[in-house]
Amino acid sequence: MKILMVCLGNICRSPMADGLMQKKINENQLNASVDSAGTIGIHAGDSPDSRMMQTSKSFGVSIEHLRARQFIQNDFEQFDIIFAMDKSNLSNILKLAKSEKDKQKVHLILNMSHIGKNLEVPDPYFGGEQGFIDVYNLLDEATDSILEKLKNNDL
Ligand code: 4NP
Repeated sequence: MKILMVCLGNICRSPMADGLMQKKINENQLNASVDSAGTIGIHAGDSPDSRMMQTSKSFGVSIEHLRARQFIQNDFEQFDIIFAMDKSNLSNILKLAKSEKDKQKVHLILNMSHIGKNLEVPDPYFGGEQGFIDVYNLLDEATDSILEKLKNNDL
């Protein structure tokens, strides 16, 4: 199972989701991989935001090695499932879909932990430290739900 996490810049939310999911895949020795991307390319090649790296490190999750890249149409071929952090990301990803099969791969990540609620992971970029902690907690919960589905072959 190949999982892609997508946000706007690929420097805050989706690297956090990527790092958390990778840690849980490793700990559970699951046959799955995870990557992340942003719908915009202005941060391509950059490390994650230093505030997100600091929060991540404080919770024991490694994201410093990740580098930002832009989501591309070919990602629909490369990944089995694509998780968007918010509705804007979801709609920008869907604009690049070529088929119904592509569209069915895309989900709001918080629908994994809060089924059917269509909740969003708030963009922490222009806010304070608490925003980054909130992102971590929301994504920890969502990746726990993804992990359970992976274990049950139900993703
Ligand atoms: P992310 O946060 O989508 O969670 O990576 C943002 C990063 C950069 C910008 C906006 C959001 N930006 O406007 O540069």
